[in-house]
Amino acid sequence: MGASSPTIDVVSLRKALGGFLTGVTVVTTIDPQGLPRGMTANSFTSVSLDPPLVLICIGRTAASYDAFRQAKTFAISILGEDQRDVSGLFASKTADKFERSSWRREATGAPVINDALGWLDCSVHDQVAAGDHLILVGKVEGFGANEGAPLGFHGGRYVTFGVDTDTRDRSGGRSVFGALIERDGQILLFRDDAASEWRIPCGLHGADNRHGLAALRDQCRHFGIDVRLNFVYSVFTLDSGEVHIVYRGSPTDAPVTDGGAKVGARWFAMDDIPWDDISDRPVRSMLQRYISERSDDRFGIYAESGDGGAVAMLHGHPAPFGPEHVGRRS
Ligand SMILES: Cc1cc2nc3c(=O)[nH]c(=O)nc-3n(C[C@H](O)[C@H](O)[C@H](O)COP(=O)(O)O)c2cc1C
Repeated sequence: MGASSPTIDVVSLRKALGGFLTGVTVVTTIDPQGLPRGMTANSFTSVSLDPPLVLICIGRTAASYDAFRQAKTFAISILGEDQRDVSGLFASKTADKFERSSWRREATGAPVINDALGWLDCSVHDQVAAGDHLILVGKVEGFGANEGAPLGFHGGRYVTFGVDTDTRDRSGGRSVFGALIERDGQILLFRDDAASEWRIPCGLHGADNRHGLAALRDQCRHFGIDVRLNFVYSVFTLDSGEVHIVYRGSPTDAPVTDGGAKVGARWFAMDDIPWDDISDRPVRSMLQRYISERSDDRFGIYAESGDGGAVAMLHGHPAPFGPEHVGRRS
């Protein structure tokens, strides 16, 4: 470690690093006096499955630095989208973080935040001094996971990927699952004759007690197309208050019948989209973004938020993910 390099502008570096989208965790431990200590951290990374190892980086200027340096155990609580306040509390210098939050001890004695999306209870496996941070490598002794949407952090701001509560309330719970289905550079649209409009394939969540994704798939099957959905591409609200969650997808390799041959469904070349017959502005702008990103094969995931929304970029080719694919690259 030495003095900072004169060629590196720390503010610009911080900005560049902030372009990396992360989740948000609270890392916790017990200090030598037996008191719980903790801070918000997005430096969490999974390291190894066998043995099960994870790491976090603790800044030397943190008040809890010494507690983490001396710790034999620590825990990581992965925060959900409704836990921004918990993140704010643990990112602060408040002395009574634990009096103001709901937590429990896990087997190692380390505190875990209640209702977190996931938690990992760790024994310290290794410590590495790295510049102005200490890397703590933990061996996972216990863990748990809950359903829910994660809290994200990007460019110095929180981002969420689920549907926010205000929006849900405004829409009266109406959410629509849609899809941008592409085949050979063409996009699938369905005709809504009653409204004289073309629409992306959509399924209304809750109609007939069905999940919106199941309704979406059924609608495509009705037109003879079996779809594979890759990732959430956009989340936005129409003026009607309806929340749209739109996936990117493609037809599966096992075609049923050609949707183009059926009345009401048509594959449109990207330079032949019937813009005048798509009245919802957010749908039009999403399609325009898709077409422009398609040419680079780099896609942004759009999540609406109070401050204008945020887009996270990712490469266009979905790759298999899971233990069975580790080490294999497509
Ligand atoms: C989203 C977010 C992520 C953070 N990640 C880290 C991190 O990985 N490591 C770290 O040392 N501080 C990180 N911080 C800053 C600490 O949470 C902050 O300095 C906190 O006040 C430390 O608490 P303490 O001084 O009580 O120990 C992060 C803050 C935020 C808002």
